Amino acid sequence: AETYETLLIERHADGYAVVTLNRPKALNALNSQVFADLTAFLDSVERDDTVRCIVLTGSEKAFAAGADIKEMADQSYAQMFTENFFAAGHDRITRFRKPIIAAVSGYALGGGCELAMLCDFIIASETAKFGQPEINLGVAPGIGGSQRLTRLVGKSKAMDMILTARMMDAAEAERAGLVSRVVPGERLLDEAREAAAKIAAHSPLAVMANKEMVNVALESTLTEGVRFERRLFHSLFAFEDQKEGMAAFVDKRKPDFRGR
Ligand code: CAA
Repeated sequence: AETYETLLIERHADGYAVVTLNRPKALNALNSQVFADLTAFLDSVERDDTVRCIVLTGSEKAFAAGADIKEMADQSYAQMFTENFFAAGHDRITRFRKPIIAAVSGYALGGGCELAMLCDFIIASETAKFGQPEINLGVAPGIGGSQRLTRLVGKSKAMDMILTARMMDAAEAERAGLVSRVVPGERLLDEAREAAAKIAAHSPLAVMANKEMVNVALESTLTEGVRFERRLFHSLFAFEDQKEGMAAFVDKRKPDFRGR
């Protein structure tokens, strides 16, 4: 069995895994061990066909209350700079080619909000609270928050949240486009599992291509993005899964995608 100091892993026969952040005494604060564990887990499933989607979640009280302040408090500039603090963890997640759904209950603050935004979409419980309160500590977001929050909710709300450190509740987060759905707390994990199972039932090749396309939208002009989409769309016709998917529709049966 897979054991990690800071993560609980549950693999599901439907082709997805639920990864639960497990540092309850620190409200899942993200220390180096959490990033090391997440990196090791993502490495281990990158080429594992039995895991085609991941649900990342925390506890009822906290998805994650931020980067670990106690670990960072005494760091010098030279240490932060030399270690390139947060770079490896951030980059590992952005390089992961399969979908990661964040299922957020309670606090998603600072690095916790940034980790949720690094996922492909966020499903929130009614109790979720999002914020980038780093300014209270005399610092700033450091795992992409100033960039991703601004792209997701626009400049005005991003400035408001980052400069005042106020939290956004689930309803506001949904209105603002930070989260894709809000559900009652008791539904959160089932909702995320059902979404993961749906994704895992699709052609894994098509899933990767679709994820890549959407991400290109954030980093390119419309013309470049549409060109990228069209090329990738054409390339999907090289796979058996395209023939199978379209044949199954015509035959009125369920497709049997093989990832080929
Ligand atoms: N780092 C380290 N420990 C943390 C933590 C964090 N980010 N957040 C909470 N904890 C610890 C607390 O120190 C406390 O530990 P002890 O029991 O040993 O004292 C334990 O978790 C429980 O927390 P609280 O007693 O504070 O719980 P609460 O319910 O009273 O308050 C909270 C909850 C409002 C979320 C509060 O814990 C809080 O404000 N946390 C810090 C939030 C924050 O500032 N996050 C940003 C971190 S900086 C960052 O993330 C940088 C970056 O972008 C890269």
